[in-house]
Amino acid sequence: MCGIVGYVGKEQAAPILLDGLSKLEYRGYDSAGMAVYDGDKIVINKTTGRLKVLSELTHDGATMPGNIGIGHTRWATHGEPSEVNAHPHFNENRTIAVVHNGIIENYQKLRNILVERGYKFRSETDTEVVAHLLDYYYNKYDKDPLTALVKVIHRVEGSYALGILFADHPDVVYAVRKDSPLIVGQSEEGNLIASDVPAVLKYTRDVFFIENGEIARLTKDTIAFYNVDGEPIEKQSKHIDWDINAAEKNGYEHFMLKEIYEQPKAVRDTISPRIKDNDIVIEELGMTDEEIREIKKIYIVACGSAYHTGVTCKYIFEGLARIPVEVDLASEFRYRNPILEDGTLVIIISQSGETADSLAALRLAKEQGIKTLGIVNVVGSSIAREADKVMYTWAGPEIAVATTKAYSCQLVAQYLLALKFAKARGKITEDELKEYLHEMEMLPNQIEILLGNKEKIQKFANRYVAAKDVFFIGRGIDYAISLEGSLKLKEISYIHSEAYAAGELKHGTISLIEDGTLVTAVVTQEELYKKTISNIVEVKTRGAYVLAVTNEDNPDIERTVDSVIYIPKTNKYFTNSLAIIPLQLFAYYVSVGKGLDVDKPRNLAKSVTVE
Ligand code: G6P
Repeated sequence: MCGIVGYVGKEQAAPILLDGLSKLEYRGYDSAGMAVYDGDKIVINKTTGRLKVLSELTHDGATMPGNIGIGHTRWATHGEPSEVNAHPHFNENRTIAVVHNGIIENYQKLRNILVERGYKFRSETDTEVVAHLLDYYYNKYDKDPLTALVKVIHRVEGSYALGILFADHPDVVYAVRKDSPLIVGQSEEGNLIASDVPAVLKYTRDVFFIENGEIARLTKDTIAFYNVDGEPIEKQSKHIDWDINAAEKNGYEHFMLKEIYEQPKAVRDTISPRIKDNDIVIEELGMTDEEIREIKKIYIVACGSAYHTGVTCKYIFEGLARIPVEVDLASEFRYRNPILEDGTLVIIISQSGETADSLAALRLAKEQGIKTLGIVNVVGSSIAREADKVMYTWAGPEIAVATTKAYSCQLVAQYLLALKFAKARGKITEDELKEYLHEMEMLPNQIEILLGNKEKIQKFANRYVAAKDVFFIGRGIDYAISLEGSLKLKEISYIHSEAYAAGELKHGTISLIEDGTLVTAVVTQEELYKKTISNIVEVKTRGAYVLAVTNEDNPDIERTVDSVIYIPKTNKYFTNSLAIIPLQLFAYYVSVGKGLDVDKPRNLAKSVTVE
């Protein structure tokens, strides 16, 4: 899981590569490197640590002259983060340089063969075999880069997006992909390759999405594409109309805070185009009411926070549309031989559309002839392309590793789907639908109101920067909210935190409660109110300090708990969209209070393209 870039054009390459990599650091940030052709030879600089170390090393690229180059930001898979394992990797005489995102699964076998042929390896990476294998075929087949590349991709197994420089062809960048994302950007000043669109937005909005097995050959003013056998193919570019500022911080201290504040807009953008004349229109779903009525079961499959949205929406699909739902972690689903019968719909939820386990789960369902629907944020990503149908969340680019706005959009996309299914199956009337939609449309403004009250949470968070353990409890949808609140806190603050179904506390967890332990109780489901209050009393009796997140019409709760955050009134199915906001802010301010790297927490990466 890494980010790659490449540039060939009229400008100096290194500063452009550094800028592109800075937009891809969310993909990994334990080491970075660049290779640039300086007019005579390929010059390589690489280092461990963040990209800024590479920038310092090269004086923001100034020490690397040349108009063509490739770059890489790494998240280690094979081989520890170290200078020698950082990319680019190269052949013995440094005439071929390679950057790679993905995993070469048969690298050990290939490495053994190459070692027998006299190749010397420097690193522990899987990528280095690509550099030497290219060298081998390049020399064997008349020093033709395209032929060498075709030979290599027929030998390697696994996933890859590769950017390649050949010193003998100093005006060409080659790129190829399989199961790792890759785009090509076309501009007047030069052409680019990258793992993701934000890396090229500063230079162009005209982008080609490279498909599996496709090869790209870029010079400063030409772009050619070839299939897996090296035969020329035609491709159409797409025009991207994202706001360029969307990929920048816009004055916020961190991307995470900016993205938290973008939630009203992101949620509105995801809902609005799909509500027309008091009805839900999801054209991309391509399902008739008849087909919706034939659904017998839904699997929601995802990872991380996307999985948590599924846990919430199980209650909603079952409650509103009366369709049985199973929610699965993709890494479990793919290996547990699930029973997928006719009439099953598999919904894969993913911000990046590239999460390896989610993609594998999608493929498993497809192989078994099961209908699949992707709820995806990144346009043109693997899950978006491979799912039978795709419903986009319109969150825009999300950079902070801890998701916020994409999570919120995944929730509302599923609310729309559940309501549509409920209506098609005759479980709700037109009037009821109208009422639900009215409440949904109020969510963006209600989120804004919650964001306006951040000071209270900020102060509260400052008191807990030294906390050892924090617990989150709730029942039903409130339990699902707790799962996400707990994940947000632990991933960016490194405070141990767990979420429990409130009724389950007595079966073990309550023994962890000590004097002053913070327990956040989410209490938005009226029919479960009294039950959760009983659990709150139980933890308070054992010394817990309880912060409640509840509806504004529950002021009585102040008699029981120590502190309260109220959320505006909404339908019981939609409370997650509001209750999560203070929990995101709490996690954010604890992390800031501890002086941590909020946007790039240790050991994590945003797009997990390895299993
Ligand atoms: C990583 C991210 C999470 C995200 C999860 C699934 O762990 O840090 O924020 O929820 O991957 O990613 P996806 O792109 O499939 O939604």
